[in-house]
Amino acid sequence: MTASTSPAPESAKAVSAPFLQVQQLSKAYHPARPVFADVSFTLERGEFVCIIGHSGCGKTTILNILAGLDTATSGYVFMDGREVRGPGLERGVVFQNHALMPWLTVRHNIAFAVESRWPQWKAAQVREHVERYVAMVGLSHAIDRKPSQLSGGMKQRVGIARAFAIQPKMLLLDEPFGALDALTRGSIQDELMAIVRQTRQTVFMITHDVDEAILLADRILLMHNAADTPAGFRPGGIAEVVSNPLPRDRSRATLHHLPGYYELRNHIVDFLVTRAKAH
Ligand SMILES: Nc1ncnc2c1ncn2[C@@H]1O[C@H](COP(=O)(O)OP(=O)(O)OP(=O)(O)O)[C@@H](O)[C@H]1O
Ligand SMILES: [Mg+2]
Repeated sequence: MTASTSPAPESAKAVSAPFLQVQQLSKAYHPARPVFADVSFTLERGEFVCIIGHSGCGKTTILNILAGLDTATSGYVFMDGREVRGPGLERGVVFQNHALMPWLTVRHNIAFAVESRWPQWKAAQVREHVERYVAMVGLSHAIDRKPSQLSGGMKQRVGIARAFAIQPKMLLLDEPFGALDALTRGSIQDELMAIVRQTRQTVFMITHDVDEAILLADRILLMHNAADTPAGFRPGGIAEVVSNPLPRDRSRATLHHLPGYYELRNHIVDFLVTRAKAH
């Protein structure tokens, strides 16, 4: 056999399976009217993928299934070769509505996660790590406050710091910047981008903001809502996967000057206006 010239055998191809594989997911609260069906996509290691779609199409449900916090009616999710069957510290989640423990301070909310991730760490090491991530989201001055003493945007930033602090294999972000003012949003987007690029973090993120998706994502999944059409009920699903052709080292300030930006933006906005929802 001429092993050196023959193509890679099937077994060798299997080794390079995508980091995340989502296969034919569906979710139905009423059997005849699934929220979405036949949702399949992949993420490569180090890839940043955004999903965009109107309210109610099932974005959070998909993210919760990837997080292991919800179950699909049918279909599978594999991460790093293993089926996702429950929550785990290798996936960090930032929820649409922050999910902080109200009786713990910012410091202890984050330390709780860090101690679960690295139970062998000494107190000083936990402390230093927590303080670094709190500083990243600009909340050092509020580190000893409880969630009830924080604004909505501040609570959201604690959730972001907590998810990053456990250095997960994959970040799952559900509209993480929705509650932030434009200035904070911009600086955290920049910060997120820098960390993600440095660490080659794999990210799946929901956003309603087309520019945010274009800034951050390598690929954008466009999702349509379930609808009653003349041909009958159509479950929600992924209508299209758009690759972002803009150079990867783009920044907020220069985004709209890049060739291809308006074309990409118009394509996504057109989808949202004309194809995402039955009218
Ligand atoms: N427990 C439930 N019982 C019945 N329907 C549900 C339940 N939970 C969610 N749904 C429905 O599933 C659909 C998808 O919800 P999901 O929260 O995933 O949407 P979304 O795309 O994240 O919306 P948004 O952009 O508003 O956050 C919605 O139509 C919602 O009404
Ligand atoms: Mg949602």
